[in-house]
Amino acid sequence: MPEFSPGLEGVVAAETAVSEVDGANGRLIYRGGYLIEDLAPIATFEESAYLLWNGRLPEAADLDALCRQMAAARGLKDAGRGSLVALDPATDAMDTLRTVVSAQGAAKTLTQPTLDEAIALTAVLPTIVAAAYRRSKGNDPIEPRDDLRHAANLLWMMEGKEASPDRVHWLDTYLVLLADHGLNASTFTARVIASTGSDLTSCIVGAIGALKGPAHGGATFAARTMLDKIGSVENVEPWMEKAHEEHRRFAGFGHRVYRTYDPRAKILRELAKTAAPDLHRLAARAEEVALKILHEAHPERPNATNVDFWASVVLTGVGIPKELFTCVFASSRVAGWTAHVLESLADLRIIRPASIWKGPQPGSKPLPIAQR
Ligand SMILES: CC(C)(COP(=O)(O)OP(=O)(O)OC[C@H]1O[C@@H](n2cnc3c(N)ncnc32)[C@H](O)[C@@H]1OP(=O)(O)O)[C@@H](O)C(=O)NCCC(=O)NCCS
Repeated sequence: MPEFSPGLEGVVAAETAVSEVDGANGRLIYRGGYLIEDLAPIATFEESAYLLWNGRLPEAADLDALCRQMAAARGLKDAGRGSLVALDPATDAMDTLRTVVSAQGAAKTLTQPTLDEAIALTAVLPTIVAAAYRRSKGNDPIEPRDDLRHAANLLWMMEGKEASPDRVHWLDTYLVLLADHGLNASTFTARVIASTGSDLTSCIVGAIGALKGPAHGGATFAARTMLDKIGSVENVEPWMEKAHEEHRRFAGFGHRVYRTYDPRAKILRELAKTAAPDLHRLAARAEEVALKILHEAHPERPNATNVDFWASVVLTGVGIPKELFTCVFASSRVAGWTAHVLESLADLRIIRPASIWKGPQPGSKPLPIAQR
């Protein structure tokens, strides 16, 4: 009888060279062996995506070609546009993203995932996110700009004016940090779908669905909501003590793999000091109290700060409304999802784990229908 591992904890389900989460040492390694703390201060999102897709950092000409290819793929197709306008503008932004990505990729025949498709999907996500945001405010979508990079173009399409270099830099750093993270739940979802021989859009639509949950990408929104509810530095301790007594989880803390401080959280914590100084003060106190409570509850299990906690502060400083946090996360992680799918094609075997039967054995009960 195979052993059951709840949450597949400790189960090895893939071999990958895209990224590695070294949980014991608090390290995140991107393709090619780069530590995230070395890459993040110097690389842009486009360079990181190129690295994840190709296994090496781009030369100037490679980067130029990638940026041009992405800029050309930012527009919505008729099916994408049609599905966008068919939705109620008040629809949850992640639901809009999932639906429009699906419509955008609707095809007549099944095709195998390609790098060109990966680039096109990555390029178009911010267009959908910004359009969903503007529609929710009763405004018309703004067309993407060819001359702006991924981060700057997202802010342009949301606001209709060019964002300051600081805001672009904070967002770009966030996008680099979040682009991949080992075999997390949404990446695993994408790989499971790819393992059936399905198409790239289906993999990404599935991954978007997995990312939405508050135990995964939805935690950034939940962390910001938690800070909103706490409201003031004085209220941190009583609020968190009560939440703990009521067995409510602190959003942005704990991790399946990290047994120490998430290296991405460390970088964002520092960035948050300039991006959102007031919220940083509140968050720093909330972190201090949360870590104390979590340590007292589980000294054997270091439930440290994860990326979502400090990401919620930095994204606030960038000026992204919290309703869009998970979508902006997806606009980064799509690079990792697609890189994993493309990598998995080299050795495709359907992912099909086992389960343990908990029901009665056949014949132990009479069939509850009348004999004919
Ligand atoms: C990330 C997460 C899903 C990992 O889950 P996991 O590896 O399955 O860990 P478990 O759910 O088994 O938690 C182990 C113990 O730590 C506690 N714990 C873990 N994260 C906690 C948190 N954020 N707040 C309070 N307690 C927490 C659990 O309650 C559990 O204790 P218990 O057995 O007494 O109930 C979990 O830490 C969590 O829900 N965090 C909050 C959401 C979040 O930030 N997600 C983003 C991850 S990047």
